[in-house]
Amino acid sequence: MPAGLKTSEHIQAMREGGKILARILQELKEYTKPGLNELEINDWVANKITKYGATASYLEDEVVFPGVICISVNQELVHSPPVDYVLEEGDLVSYDLTIKYKGMHTDSAFTMVVGREPRGAEKQLLSVTERSLYAGIEVVKPGARVGDIGATVEEVLSAGKLGIVRDYVGHGIGASMHMAPNIPNYGVRGTGAMLQAGDTICIEPMASLGKEKTFVDSDGWTVSMKDGSLCAHFEHTVLVTDDGYEILTIW
Ligand code: MF3
Ligand code: CO
Ligand code: CO
Repeated sequence: MPAGLKTSEHIQAMREGGKILARILQELKEYTKPGLNELEINDWVANKITKYGATASYLEDEVVFPGVICISVNQELVHSPPVDYVLEEGDLVSYDLTIKYKGMHTDSAFTMVVGREPRGAEKQLLSVTERSLYAGIEVVKPGARVGDIGATVEEVLSAGKLGIVRDYVGHGIGASMHMAPNIPNYGVRGTGAMLQAGDTICIEPMASLGKEKTFVDSDGWTVSMKDGSLCAHFEHTVLVTDDGYEILTIW
């Protein structure tokens, strides 16, 4: 289904699904404590998804992922399956969750420090990466181009002296989890696909305290920073409205 073919019912389903996703992530942030096993967290999230009437996108459609949520710790950036690991105080954990509700997907991610407030360089990493997401969202409106979003995100991340991950990008979303266009976290203003009202996209800056290069672990899924640096990932599903945007996964 091309983005333009979404009906108002499809968009309404994404609005409702986005609220469910936001609620789960907010509850997950509260729930996250030192001593929790990632496998326990996965089961907890799976129960929430079911309880709120949605399904886990990672278990169906284009991927068959070993878990309902990605749990990436410290130098792990994205796509890490839940494993038999117990969270420790001070771990930097990134959660990335996609759910399906009434046939439509929504996708959102955030990074937090386990068991204490962020401090020092890690605080800078989290705040700048999150700020780059909201800066990118701010430019969304009909007629804006994908390069406008990328250039804006890139400027915030480079002003914050972070490594800007280029190996993975944001994307369109709707009846499938990943759809056209790609939404890179870098770019040139005035270039790339033009947004139109009704489009639904995922903007998802990924950044590190070190260099930008990543590699895929031997598990075939986990993407980690090559230089072992700490990294962060923030993502929202955003609807292009007639005069701007609506963040469908806002807490
Ligand atoms: N939610 C991820 C994204 O932002 C996709 C994860 S796919 C998985 O695009 F297979 F790794 F789970
Ligand atoms: Co995601
Ligand atoms: Co995404």
